[in-house]
Amino acid sequence: MKRMLFWGMTILSIALAVCTASGQEDMTFVDNGVFDRPQRPPAIFEHDVHNETAGLDDCAECHHLYDESGQKLEGESSEDQTCADCHEIKDVGRKPGLRKAFHNNCKGCHLAEQKGPIACAQCHVR
Ligand code: HEC
Ligand code: HEC
Ligand code: HEC
Ligand code: HEC
Repeated sequence: MKRMLFWGMTILSIALAVCTASGQEDMTFVDNGVFDRPQRPPAIFEHDVHNETAGLDDCAECHHLYDESGQKLEGESSEDQTCADCHEIKDVGRKPGLRKAFHNNCKGCHLAEQKGPIACAQCHVR
């Protein structure tokens, strides 16, 4: 019995480790589970493929960190956190609400670079 428990736990922890490690490699869309009643299908976003194609090496381009005074911390990133860990549904001071945060980040860059989708249905694909 003890032995079965031991192997059970071992297999479980290996499975967990594998899942966490491949978290963003397998990402094909942005999880919309943080929104109460999502109005749209989740946005297409193949994390690693997207960032390679777009030539984004700096994780903090999206996973940013700021100090107390709202100064962006260069060379540091918040990739271990989800956007919703910091952004609430509504705006808080200079921190945009969650939907705005995603849209300004994604569409903002696509507009500036004149590359990548900006129409609703191109990201929220049914
Ligand atoms: C560049 C990609 C992109 C475009 C273009 C875009 N969105 Fe989004 N949108 C996102 C992402 C990413 C999220 C965050 C979670 C998710 O839905 O995957 C989001 C979230 C949302 C949400 C909150 C979650 C929900 O489903 O209720 C709404 C509403 C929304 N978008 C509507 C729109 C509308 C309307 C347009 C067009 C005017 C649009 N979006 C264009 C990427 C995009
Ligand atoms: C173009 C924007 C963008 C860039 C650049 C980017 N990411 Fe992400 N990443 C995202 C988004 C969006 C999510 C989903 C966040 C959410 O669900 O709130 C995510 C999720 C993750 C997650 C899973 C986090 C979690 O807790 O769910 C990891 C790990 C991660 N990214 C690592 C990285 C690393 C490492 C880099 C740099 C090599 C990087 N990312 C660059 C946008 C980006
Ligand atoms: C560790 C906390 C934290 C995380 C995680 C975080 N943000 Fe932010 N974000 C902030 C703060 C704080 C501000 C306001 C900065 C200021 O004072 O101007 C901000 C501002 C923004 C802005 C407006 C300024 C700008 O850079 O254009 C956007 C857009 C944004 N965040 C998108 C995102 C997205 C998308 C994610 C997830 C990939 C994310 N944020 C993850 C804390 C965070
Ligand atoms: C800093 C710039 C930048 C940010 C931030 C960014 N993108 Fe992009 N995105 C690009 C560029 C550049 C392309 C065009 C790549 C190419 O085909 O040359 C692109 C292309 C795309 C495409 C087309 C298919 C593909 O994967 O190439 C989708 C879908 C997309 N982006 C979704 C998103 C979503 C969703 C977000 C926010 C979570 C986001 N992007 C954030 C720069 C960005």
